[in-house]
Amino acid sequence: MCGIIGYTGKAQAAPKLLLCLKRLEYRGYDSAGIAVLCEDNFSVYKRKGRVDELEGAKALSGTTGIGHTRWATHGEPSEKNAHPHLYGRYAVVHNGIIENYRQLKEECEARGERFTSETDSEVIAHLLDFYDEGDVLTALRKTCARLIGSYALAVMRRDRADALYAARRKSPLIVGRGNDGLYVASDVPAIAECGELYSLADGEFALLQQDTIKFFREEGEIGKEQMKLTSRAEFPDKGGYAHYMWKEMCEIPAAIAHSIINFDSDPRFSAFNIVLCHTKYVQIVACGTAYHSGIAAKYLIERAARIPVEVTVASEYRYGDPIIREGTLTLAVSQSGETADTLAAAQLAKERGATVVAVTNAPDSSITRIAHFVLLTQAGREIAVAATKSFNAQLALLYSFGTALAAQQGKTADRSALLSLPALAEQTLSRVEKLKMTAPFYAQARSVYFIGRGADYCAALEGSLKLKEISYLPSEGYPAGELKHGTLALVDEGTPVVAILTQRAVAEKTMNAVSEVYARGGKVLLITSFPEYTARKEVSVSILLPACEELYSPILSVIPLQALAYYTALARGNDPDKPRNLAKSVTVE
Ligand code: AGP
Repeated sequence: MCGIIGYTGKAQAAPKLLLCLKRLEYRGYDSAGIAVLCEDNFSVYKRKGRVDELEGAKALSGTTGIGHTRWATHGEPSEKNAHPHLYGRYAVVHNGIIENYRQLKEECEARGERFTSETDSEVIAHLLDFYDEGDVLTALRKTCARLIGSYALAVMRRDRADALYAARRKSPLIVGRGNDGLYVASDVPAIAECGELYSLADGEFALLQQDTIKFFREEGEIGKEQMKLTSRAEFPDKGGYAHYMWKEMCEIPAAIAHSIINFDSDPRFSAFNIVLCHTKYVQIVACGTAYHSGIAAKYLIERAARIPVEVTVASEYRYGDPIIREGTLTLAVSQSGETADTLAAAQLAKERGATVVAVTNAPDSSITRIAHFVLLTQAGREIAVAATKSFNAQLALLYSFGTALAAQQGKTADRSALLSLPALAEQTLSRVEKLKMTAPFYAQARSVYFIGRGADYCAALEGSLKLKEISYLPSEGYPAGELKHGTLALVDEGTPVVAILTQRAVAEKTMNAVSEVYARGGKVLLITSFPEYTARKEVSVSILLPACEELYSPILSVIPLQALAYYTALARGNDPDKPRNLAKSVTVE
């Protein structure tokens, strides 16, 4: 992951780099640094921790600089491993992974060069200096030719106070021209004020010097069209809430309302509806929370449209040998639109002949440039690392997709229940506060299990992921029927088990699992839409959900689970917005 930024212009670089780094912090926040060029010297400021730790760097003087916010891959989070990395005449920031860095490092060391960090990235500065016989672009080309893996690079040379160099392979990189100078950045929102924006493609280089931007490929200079943006970036503040996560949960009803699409009546989807008519198989590729929304969608699509749906974790799909038959539509679901594994899976599906549809919350993200069709969730920008409203928005959109697919296949599909979901989500939110009282019990648990059947299984998976992510408690989600096939051995006096029960046909079956837990001393929190189960002796605490069409119920049942994770994280003294070791957007594999 990691976020990179570069600036060259007439203004002081440091304050601009810091502002942009703050916007890139969702990519990693375990260490950060900037380097600014001043009179043929680099002034460098690096710190372990968040971008806020760089406050002291504001005073660095110079009008060209580069910056980095890190999510450690090689080497612990520390000052010495923080970027920029310097060697000889060069300073470099890197996002990506250099897979052959060990071999390259040995080569450099054999020449007598010394390394100061444990990172894979430092080798890039060494190679640049080695290959530089006077022309920086040639040195950059030669260096990139030696690198195996992925990189987005911003580079400065000590004696070029008015120039920045950039290169990209498999990691996103944007170049922009603003009123005050030229920029490179990992994403568009980081440099939202730039009137002119260009997206570097794999194998391309850029030179930003004084007022000029030039683009190159191996064969020489190339022309490049400006990006056509579909939206302008927003940077929401906490709006009076203690944390972004809670604020974003409160925005769930609006996120759902805005993400429901009426494909049949909206003329923008006429071409898409023709594709739906010819769809015989659906694949869904995604990671983490987005993968869970794919599982929920599978239940709905198979039931409503009677079309087989395969849901695969993107990192498995990309290295598998996926079968694409005629009529395959592949949904690549990604809140950020920048997840490396999902991008690679979407690309592979496209190369093998599938119609690729991106479902994303980020209008101008990388995934929109791969997909044949883009379906935008309208959750608004999500800042907290733990996905909440974006998940509910994905479900709203995927449910709309499922009903549209069913209709195009000549099946009767009732859309009306979809429209009631925002109000039901509002009611659900108003019922979760009592979980605050339960949180201290969860906070001291050794592990927590989530169970559910059918569509409830998806909620179990997502509830468990949320809890792990921000409370750091070991947790698993299971189909309720699987409990007795092994995991029940872990349940003893006081073990917390969260049961989700919204599917009438299997309600008694899930209650059997609840009884089995109770018999072993487990403490059950029941999330249900059936009032008759809330008073059962096996249930310690319950949340009653408003009545809802069963196949849509994960969009509601996940809300108390998100709240449980939030309250538990607080009870354990964790920052729910920035959990340890994680980042909002996972741009490396
Ligand atoms: C969700 O809470 C997690 N932060 C994570 O699992 C996330 O959903 C996953 O990394 C996929 O991200 P994406 O939707 O941006 O592709």
